[in-house]
Amino acid sequence: MTRTTPDSLSEAQRDALLAQAREAAHSAYAPYSKFHVGAALLMGDGSVVTGANVENASYGLSLCAETVAVAKILSQPGEAGRLVAVAVTGGAPGHPGEGMVVTPCGRCRQMLNEVAQLGGTDPVVWSDGADGVLEEPLSVLIPHAFGPANLA
Ligand code: THU
Repeated sequence: MTRTTPDSLSEAQRDALLAQAREAAHSAYAPYSKFHVGAALLMGDGSVVTGANVENASYGLSLCAETVAVAKILSQPGEAGRLVAVAVTGGAPGHPGEGMVVTPCGRCRQMLNEVAQLGGTDPVVWSDGADGVLEEPLSVLIPHAFGPANLA
């Protein structure tokens, strides 16, 4: 498996992706939690796919920002492409990244792994917060992940 180390991406690329995640958070539909999350996924061709959380009056049906972004990618025609990096941020409406670091929830780690395995990468995940940005490869956030390779 190709390993995309954090070293291969610049600080400017990280900051740009975080800015796109923060921008996406403004589009959240989260009237119940009032916690706005944004995710930005950088693909190998340089394209960025964003997502925001979408809640539902039946609370348990709510979709996380990362899951929305993954659904966008996988519902396009053609190959998913290589997932290089993920930026996640969240917080009170209008204030993403100003509270505790927001790491992808367990379900979202699994969703992100689907795209990562399809494209053969181990993307870096940047989790944004007031005290800085936590940087981890996806494989650290979800070790020994079950994915499409298991079903091949
Ligand atoms: N949320 C996300 O969008 N991504 C995560 O990884 C963690 C949680 C959303 C779900 C819900 O709409 C709100 O944050 C509060 O849990």
